Amino acid sequence: MTPAALPGFPWDSLADHTAKARAHPDGIVDLSVGTPVDPVPEPIREALASVSDIPGYPTTHGTPQLRAAAVEALRRRHGIEGIDPEAVLPTIGSKELVAWLPTLLGAGAGDVVVIPELAYPTYEVGALLAGASPVRADGLTQLGPQKPAMIWLNSPSNPTGRVLGVEHLRKVVEWARERGTVVVSDECYLALGWEGEPVSVLHPDVHGGSLDGLLAVHSLSKSANLASYRAGFVTGDPALVRRLLEVRKHAGMIVPRPVQEAMTVALTDDKALLAQRERYAARRSVLRKALLDSGFRIDHSEAGLYLWATRDEESAETVGWLAERGILVAPGTFYGPRGGKHVRVALTATDERVNAAAERLRA
Ligand SMILES: Cc1ncc(COP(=O)(O)O)c(C=O)c1O
Repeated sequence: MTPAALPGFPWDSLADHTAKARAHPDGIVDLSVGTPVDPVPEPIREALASVSDIPGYPTTHGTPQLRAAAVEALRRRHGIEGIDPEAVLPTIGSKELVAWLPTLLGAGAGDVVVIPELAYPTYEVGALLAGASPVRADGLTQLGPQKPAMIWLNSPSNPTGRVLGVEHLRKVVEWARERGTVVVSDECYLALGWEGEPVSVLHPDVHGGSLDGLLAVHSLSKSANLASYRAGFVTGDPALVRRLLEVRKHAGMIVPRPVQEAMTVALTDDKALLAQRERYAARRSVLRKALLDSGFRIDHSEAGLYLWATRDEESAETVGWLAERGILVAPGTFYGPRGGKHVRVALTATDERVNAAAERLRA
């Protein structure tokens, strides 16, 4: 595997539009990457500092307190029952896990990894890093008699904000179990339901009492503003998590001890999560109205951190039109060939910048 076999890093191709947006007299409104802008809550920063004098190696499996906090948070926030704390494994943010999961699970040449038609680019990268073949599909009938090694779900979706209902999730789980396919659900936006109600693949209504062959990937980047700390975890089928733990122990894929402490506090603090949700809800409503009023259509987007918007023209044209107004967004083509007529608008800018974008769209 050489880097040449990987797709180009999509964000590098936005340089010209970025320069144009930066040249706006009132400055850029960057709604492209989706990086959190609100401060890390004080109790989390205190937790980080509180163990910063520990010199020894942290454990790959994470502290028992962290694993228990994750189990409790999943139960309180998302109605997930029956997770064994032993089956929780902290990760260094979720991107590294997404990129290496097919490799860590032993997928390789000849294996198929199914990813959504429109998807976070790292699912494809992860399949390629393992030497496996990524196949884009949203429907099971598209896959015919294939027996994929893994199938990725992402609800709410990045980039479309689409939510997969319980019935859909259940069908995917049944289909995958018949074929010995591992279902991996990337649930980093699960707490951000607006008109839609996202459900975890680990919810009992979905799996009917067995976690066999199921993994859920969670991130604290957006729910707790911890993107800079690199904090996530994976959980689900205890046997699969044990396998991941074994390899990650050998490979040194360890979350730093201060970050483990910060995660424990973040997973306990539902008030901070709700406050962050409110901020995103307010920004979403300002941006949504401004986009609709200026002639955009918004598709899906019933949950998650993005608005999936279109003017029914090539996405590059829309990105250019917005860049002239000092607003930077991502073209839908970053997420798959079917994204060619959409742009992805992130809700991650300060209230002041979001209001500036709305004014520019109205002008
Ligand atoms: C769908 C999806 N999965 C995973 C990630 C990775 O997030 P992190 O590595 O910050 O946990 C992102 C980041 O934007 C994402 O959109």
